[in-house]
Amino acid sequence: MSIHIGAQPGQIAPTVLMPGDPLRAKFIAETLLEDAECFNEVRGMLGFTGTWQGKRVSVMGSGMGMPSLMIYANELLGEYGVSTLIRVGTCGALQEDLEVGDVVLPLTASTNAQFNKLRFAGMDFAPAVDFELLQQAHAVATRRGDRVHVGGILSSDSFYEDDPEAWKLWAKFRVLAIEMESSALFTLAAKYGTRALSVLTVSDNLATGALATSEQRERGFPHMAEIALEVAPA
Ligand code: HPA
Repeated sequence: MSIHIGAQPGQIAPTVLMPGDPLRAKFIAETLLEDAECFNEVRGMLGFTGTWQGKRVSVMGSGMGMPSLMIYANELLGEYGVSTLIRVGTCGALQEDLEVGDVVLPLTASTNAQFNKLRFAGMDFAPAVDFELLQQAHAVATRRGDRVHVGGILSSDSFYEDDPEAWKLWAKFRVLAIEMESSALFTLAAKYGTRALSVLTVSDNLATGALATSEQRERGFPHMAEIALEVAPA
């Protein structure tokens, strides 16, 4: 057991899908995995391992924001031998041509957080996804007929900004969308010599004011999880 994860060694698969919400992890396990067993209940951050089309995979919540995700990712990668982490989550689009329900596959994630500035003595580290996973996810999404966008995103340290227009600077530099976890995920995958990817769905658009309906939110999640499960290494 690690400090924040109550699993025994071997209970967690080499690939872990990470939605922000632990109840989404439960939903994915119950609806998409076979023989899913819960391996973590510490702090309600539910984690499950099961199989998908014969592949053993785990799914566990990351919590919201990078400090929470980093606690779990450090323990999964550093103590449980996990070799692939795939975030599945929502994002707010920053470009008018992105529609609610579109898939966003980040290449890289800029951030307004300071963790890499601290780590690299003020210099910039450019966190990137695993190219092979990205290629596969793009192929799967395209085959499914999804509208899919590949490019940079912003992982923000705050949801409620004092300046409601802060996102516009990032939008000007063609950043596609904002969320709150991926930059830390890609950084830790690099640190541990492992692989990471994010499969995001647009839940709202800051440029147009569009917002997902509750039905779209419900459909969006299995959809992302299915792309992630298809590309999960066996
Ligand atoms: N901001 C930050 N994270 C998000 C958003 C947003 O507008 N939408 C979905 N995740």
